[in-house]
Formats: sequence, C-alpha cells, structure tokens
Amino acid sequence: MRLSERARLKLDSLLPAPLGYRLDLLRPLRFYGGPMNGQGARQRLVRELMRAVAFDEIVETGTYRGVTTTFLSDVSGLPVHTAEVSPRYVRYARVRCATHPSVTVHHRDSRDLLRELAARPGAPTLFCYLDAHWGEDVPRHDELRIIHARWPRAVVMIDDFQVHDDPGYAYTRYGGAPLNLDYLPELPGWRPFYPATRAAAETGDRRGCLVLATAALAPAVAALDGLRPAGRHLVPTPAT
Ligand SMILES: C[S@@+](CC[C@H](N)C(=O)[O-])C[C@H]1O[C@@H](n2cnc3c(N)ncnc32)[C@H](O)[C@@H]1O
Repeated sequence: MRLSERARLKLDSLLPAPLGYRLDLLRPLRFYGGPMNGQGARQRLVRELMRAVAFDEIVETGTYRGVTTTFLSDVSGLPVHTAEVSPRYVRYARVRCATHPSVTVHHRDSRDLLRELAARPGAPTLFCYLDAHWGEDVPRHDELRIIHARWPRAVVMIDDFQVHDDPGYAYTRYGGAPLNLDYLPELPGWRPFYPATRAAAETGDRRGCLVLATAALAPAVAALDGLRPAGRHLVPTPAT
C-alpha cells in the first residue's frame, strides 16, 4: 500500500465512525476510484463471467466504499453479500448501497460471514471477490479454505495478485511475501487463471488478479476470452 494511502487510512481511523462516515459522504465518489480499481478490462471480465456461469449469489470480502459492491449487483442482478470490519466504512457503504436492495452490507469479519453462509443448506453457485486486507491480520488463507471446503461450484477472484509474467500489474505483499501462487494454501482440484489483458492495455490502477475455478466450473471459465491459464493446477486433482 502507498504511503499516502496508509496516512489516509490512519486519519480515517482517528475519527469516530458516526462522524467519519458523514464526512466521507460529503466527498465526491470519484475520489474513491471506480469499481474493480477503475480497471476497464477487469470490469469486462466480470461481465463475461456473469454471462458464462449461472451464479446464484456473490460474496465480496472488504467493502470499503461499496463501489465494487454496487457494480457486482448491477452486472449480475444477484444477491450480493459484502463483509467489512470498519464501522465507518460499513455506515458509508450502507448509505451508498441503499439503492440496491439485493445488497447486504455485513459488519463482520469476512471469515465469519463465509462460515455463516457455508452453514446454510443447499448448494448455490458462488462468485467470490476476495479483497479484504489492509490490516495486519490478512484473512486470505482462511477465506480460501472455507470456500474450498464448502462450495463445489465456485469462482473466486483475488485482487492485488502478482501476475508473474506481467510486471506491469501491481500487487500486494503480506508480511513481506508477495501475494502470488506460492502464497496460496493447497486448493486441490481448483484451476488458476490470469487476466488475458496485458497490464499495458488495462486502465485504472492496473492491479493484478487471479481467478480460481472449482473443477465443475473450470471448463466454462477456461473458455472465457478475458482469462488465460496461470500455468499449472494448484495441486493435481486427486484420481477418482
Ligand atoms: C481494498 S479495500 C476493499 C475495496 C473494495 N472491495 C472495492 O473494490 O472498492 C479493503 C477493505 O477490507 C477491509 N477489511 C480488512 N480485513 C477485513 C476482514 N477480515 N473482514 C472484512 N473486511 C476486512 C478493510 O477495512 C478495507 O475497507
């Protein structure tokens, strides 16, 4: 994260939430960038995914201003659950998402929300956008393990991911380690994909991403124009 961003987050945390979110509402929304980091190719990729796979619901971890949340609702027409730990951002996002009744802004840790959704009966097909971070405690491994254990039909997009053969894409580090394929826990049977658009042709913040598809959805995801295989299976699918 850039120093200016870290300073702004520090300032954000100093004001009490009931006051802070009102101040946030006074700032123009463009101050917070567009959905999916303002990246046009990423937005097209998500639209393509929504057309190709009959998802039942969407989960976003890390709501912040709810900019991507309303985008996900608009492009899918599906129920969207979004989890945010900051009370200030939750208040803001609830106001911003009030025009989207199918969006639920949960004031929860992302892991708790995923566990709660996982405990429901049924087998919904899930699209999950993993973007909860900025603190010391990064939930990425737990989020992935919870989804892997419960949803046989899921597509997971991880933001801020290192695209190892395209250095034009920005990525994050957790505890000094780059967020890349080596960082991930074992996810047997899931297949990884990178954006097919090179960073030079992307717009906005040009953050990398990884898309993971469970075995059931991998063929449909592999056929998308907006994705290319990320090189290898994470762990070979066990022989049946
Ligand atoms: C990069 S921002 C999310 C941006 C948002 N998805 C978007 O596209 O506009 C990361 C957010 O994750 C939140 N966060 C961090 N850890 C979290 C956790 N364990 N559960 C839920 N939210 C978390 C932070 O407070 C921050 O608002």
